[in-house]
Amino acid sequence: MIEENRLKEEISKRSRVIDRAISELLPQKDPDGLYKATRHLLKAGGKRLRPVMSLIVAEALGKDYEKILPAAVAIETIHNFTLIHDDIMDRDEMRRGVKTVHVLWGEPTAILAGDTLFAEAFYLLTLCDVESGNLVRASRMLADVCVKICEGQFLDMSFEKREMVSEEEYIEMVTKKTSVLIAASCAIPAVLFGEREEIVNALWDFGVNCGIGFQIHDDVLDLVGKDKTGKDWGSDLIEGKKTLIVIKAFRDGNIPKIFGKKRATQEEIEEAVKMLKEKGAIDYASLKAEEFVEKGKMRLDVLQDSEAKKLLIGIADYLIKREY
Ligand code: IPE
Ligand code: IPE
Ligand code: MG
Ligand code: MG
Ligand code: MG
Repeated sequence: MIEENRLKEEISKRSRVIDRAISELLPQKDPDGLYKATRHLLKAGGKRLRPVMSLIVAEALGKDYEKILPAAVAIETIHNFTLIHDDIMDRDEMRRGVKTVHVLWGEPTAILAGDTLFAEAFYLLTLCDVESGNLVRASRMLADVCVKICEGQFLDMSFEKREMVSEEEYIEMVTKKTSVLIAASCAIPAVLFGEREEIVNALWDFGVNCGIGFQIHDDVLDLVGKDKTGKDWGSDLIEGKKTLIVIKAFRDGNIPKIFGKKRATQEEIEEAVKMLKEKGAIDYASLKAEEFVEKGKMRLDVLQDSEAKKLLIGIADYLIKREY
C-alpha cells in the first residue's frame, strides 16, 4: 500500500504537468469578457484527479504520457464545462473557493463559457500524437460520455421533483452524471494507445465503480465538509437532492426539516447533519462508496504490476477518503 504523503506528492507532481499544459493549450483570448469567464474555474485550480488518472494509466501501460497530454487536458476541460453548467442548475455560489461563473458574469455568459470549453475539449483531443483510427475511437467515447452526463444531470434534477427514488435509480443517475467521465479518464489513454479491448474494458469498469464511490463521497462531503470543500455547504439538502444518504434516511422515516426548502440557516443545516449522522445515514452511504471502490480496484488485475498501478489503487482509495 502506498503511503498517504507519497500519494499526495505523486498526484501534485502530475497536476503541475496538467496545469502547465492548461496554460499552454487554453490561453486567454478575445473577446476578453468571454474568456475570463471561460478560464475562471480552470485557473481556480481543483484537484485535477481525472487528468492525473489519465497520465498514470498511460504510465501503467508503459507508455509516454506526453503523447496523450492534450487528451488529459480535454477531459479536465469537459469536467470544467459540466461544473459551470451544474452550478447554474444547482444554484450554487461557490466552487473551488471562488464565486461561481454565473454569479460573477451572469447566466448567459456562463452558458457560453461552458459551451466554449465543451468545443475546445474536442479540438484538444485531436492534438494527441497517436494513430488517427485511435483518435476517432477516443472521440466517439468522449462524445458518448458527454451525452450520458446530460442524461445524468437531467435525472438528477428530475429526481428533485419525485417523492422517492430507489437506490438502483440513484446509482444509474450518478453513473451517468459523474462516473462515466472518470471511466473515460482511465479508458481513453488505453484507446489512444490502441490497447486491446480487454484492457480498455477493465480500465472503464475500474473508473465507473470508483466514480460511483467518488460521487457518493461527494454527497457525504456536502454535509460534513463545511469550510473544506470550497463549495456551498448543505446545498444538496436545501435543493432537495435524492442522495444515497437521503434515500436511506427517508427509508428509515428520518426526513430532515429543511429538505428541498430552497433556503436554510447555518443552524438548521447543522441540525439536519447531526440527525443524519446519528441515524447512521451518512455511514451507510460511506460503506457503499467503499464497496464500489473495492469492486473497481479488482478490475486492475489485467495490468502488470508497476509503481503506476500502485498509484492508481492509491488514488481509488483517496477518492473516498479525501476531505475536499
Ligand atoms: C466535483 O468534482 C464534481 C463532481 C462530479 C462531484 P471534483 O471534486 O473532482 O472537483 P474539482 O475538480 O476538484 O474542483
Ligand atoms: C456533479 O454533481 C455532477 C456534474 C458536475 C456533472 P454535484 O452537483 O454533486 O457536484 P458538485 O457538488 O456541485 O461539485
Ligand atoms: Mg452541483
Ligand atoms: Mg449537480
Ligand atoms: Mg455535490
